[in-house]
Amino acid sequence: MRSQTYASEMTPKPVIPSFAIGRDLVSMRDLSPSEVEALFHLTNLVKTRPEDFRTALAGKHVAMFFEKPSLRTRITFEAGVCGLGGTVSFVDQRQERLDARESLADIAHNLERWVSAIVLRTFAHETVESMAEHACVPVVNALSEVEHPCQALADYFTLYEKFGNLKKVTLAYVGDGNNVLHSLLLTAALFGSNIRIGTPKGYGPNAQILADAREIAKKTGGTIELITDPHKAVRGVDAIYTDAWTSMGHERETEERARIFPPYQVNDELMAEAAPHAVFMHCLPAHRNEEVTDSVIDSVQSVVYDQAENRMHVQKAILMMLVGGKNRLPLRSAHA
Ligand code: CP
Ligand code: NVA
Repeated sequence: MRSQTYASEMTPKPVIPSFAIGRDLVSMRDLSPSEVEALFHLTNLVKTRPEDFRTALAGKHVAMFFEKPSLRTRITFEAGVCGLGGTVSFVDQRQERLDARESLADIAHNLERWVSAIVLRTFAHETVESMAEHACVPVVNALSEVEHPCQALADYFTLYEKFGNLKKVTLAYVGDGNNVLHSLLLTAALFGSNIRIGTPKGYGPNAQILADAREIAKKTGGTIELITDPHKAVRGVDAIYTDAWTSMGHERETEERARIFPPYQVNDELMAEAAPHAVFMHCLPAHRNEEVTDSVIDSVQSVVYDQAENRMHVQKAILMMLVGGKNRLPLRSAHA
């Protein structure tokens, strides 16, 4: 087992777990319960002692290709990589899909000669999967139509900071059964945590992801409940989470969704049905006074900016775990 140490005269030297080096983070299904625990341990270290990690990615370059807009994901990856001593190239891919000019395999076999990791925000989940399949450097999903793993990890790290033992936490997600919910569902299962899903009929989570999350939860002791009534979903919970009613790429459905989702708005009435200590969560960007009212998102119960901050800390830990401290050589034989 390889370990890496960092210059620090006064504090014990942090050890970066090496089991995930060279792997991808396309889905939360890529990580095991013990790996997410280790990731949070490292996140905690990098958040509390950032100075110990200033050169963790020295000499590493990360390439980011985004087919969709971003504030948080872009800046937290850029600031995170720079904070670890690495460098980053951002490619605005909003004008055309990543594979419009050349094949994903060809892009992968170019990138792996130059960079230590590839971060992708895409429409099709298959684009991230395909890049991961072809590239011999780690690929990180920075949001696809199916998952948003970096978000869910930051969210559960935030819950861990607020409540401690995640096995005792119940989160209610109300709204659209989208990419963010899928990753939350799998992350809750990995931590043996409890999640209630309050979505309208026809807008629930993907059946395969639900089945996979249930399979994981069986082993970890987590619970997953599907409830269409938002009031029942939030009763007594520790956290209420919501996201946009219309995700990027679904804009043509905006009007129809605006008719269906209002009962799922997180407002003062819904918050009052959660536990008195409950927190409000949102991945952002928020559509104020649609899925959440100003009174809730701006309340003392809201932890949305803690979630946003933790994106950076958790992504630093993800990159350190996947990239490690040593340059990897392209596996030429893999695509000879
Ligand atoms: N939460 C999130 O991923 O935000 P951005 O779309 O701004 O990156
Ligand atoms: N579900 C939203 C998340 C944005 C961060 C979307 O995909 O647009």
